[in-house]
Amino acid sequence: MVAQRAREVEISGIRRMFESAPPNAINLGLGEPDFEPPPEVIRALCDAVRGGMNHYGPSAGLPALREKVAERYQDRDASTTSDNVLITGSGSEGLLSTALALYDPGDEVLVPNPGFVLYAPHARLAGAVPVPYDLEEAHGFQPNLEQLESLVTPRTRALVVNSPSNPTGGLFPRSVVERLVAFAEAHDLTIVSDEVYEEMVYEGRFASFWGRSDRVVVVNSFSKILAMTGWRIGFLVAQRPLAVEINKMHYHVMACPSTPAQAAVLVGLNESSATIRAMIREFRARREIITRGLNRVPGLECVPPAGAFYAFPRFYWPGTSQDVALALLKRGLITTPGEAFGSLGTGHLRLSFAASRDNLRRGLDILREYAREVGTA
Ligand SMILES: Cc1ncc(COP(=O)(O)O)c(C=O)c1O
Repeated sequence: MVAQRAREVEISGIRRMFESAPPNAINLGLGEPDFEPPPEVIRALCDAVRGGMNHYGPSAGLPALREKVAERYQDRDASTTSDNVLITGSGSEGLLSTALALYDPGDEVLVPNPGFVLYAPHARLAGAVPVPYDLEEAHGFQPNLEQLESLVTPRTRALVVNSPSNPTGGLFPRSVVERLVAFAEAHDLTIVSDEVYEEMVYEGRFASFWGRSDRVVVVNSFSKILAMTGWRIGFLVAQRPLAVEINKMHYHVMACPSTPAQAAVLVGLNESSATIRAMIREFRARREIITRGLNRVPGLECVPPAGAFYAFPRFYWPGTSQDVALALLKRGLITTPGEAFGSLGTGHLRLSFAASRDNLRRGLDILREYAREVGTA
């Protein structure tokens, strides 16, 4: 017999889809760059391992890396120091440790719908209740402040935000960020801002929540930006004393983040900006290919994503998004059903364009073929 939380928490729809794929399927399902980490970062990892950096380090991370991250946040809040920074074992771990530090059983947590697959389960794992708020396509995937007001109860503890968004690609302009901060302050809520896609912006300007309120935790990651999803390394930024409390949870989850990975990431932050810019330029070009291609498939409609690396087209075909994703899977294309991200994902598919141009074109071919077979609903 296992605990109720283990019985009730579900494995993500994305993983399920990936695990049942036929061999050689085109994978537009998983959100990870098809790039390798920059060569200097790979060298730094090998050097660190050969040089003996194979031991436990400080729970909050190596001081030099914390310092470097803090410097990068000082243009948002000049008083940011390494005391505000924790190096985590990925953005996912940062989100979980934050949830464990913030939510009490019975608390309510406002989570985006559609939104990244971990926010609601993490709230549940902490005994809290996720309360979805809408990000409607018709409103540019922006939150509706009136609806947010109506969802607040005396138990509401936190507001989880994610801009640029997975899965919608929506970006909150500065005015929305300011309104959300005012809303959170008026109701005494902590904002958990997942900013892992902050550098992948194609339209408009990214606005961080850091420096706008004392009740903000920014969760971030090196996974996407340094193309190291398998290394499991990220960070978060929070005001003290909250940073100290999250660090306690983080210690109990994983003791400390990987020591050699931290040494390598530090080299990446110092030396890899040109490589990162080139990767983002390539994503921008692929975004054009996929958005234009999707909008030419009969029965698909795609709002160009402002950021991140996902297209989130609406389909006008028979069946649920799960049915359509399964049918495409059988034809050799892995996508993610929009429903995996919440009820407002119904009628959508998520396709990652962090995949080669070739794979994007082959994926579009499969979608065109499927459209011919089913016609439009
Ligand atoms: C919005 C968002 N947040 C957090 C993560 C977690 O990234 P990681 O755990 O690899 O750092 C992801 C990964 O897909 C994501 O899309």
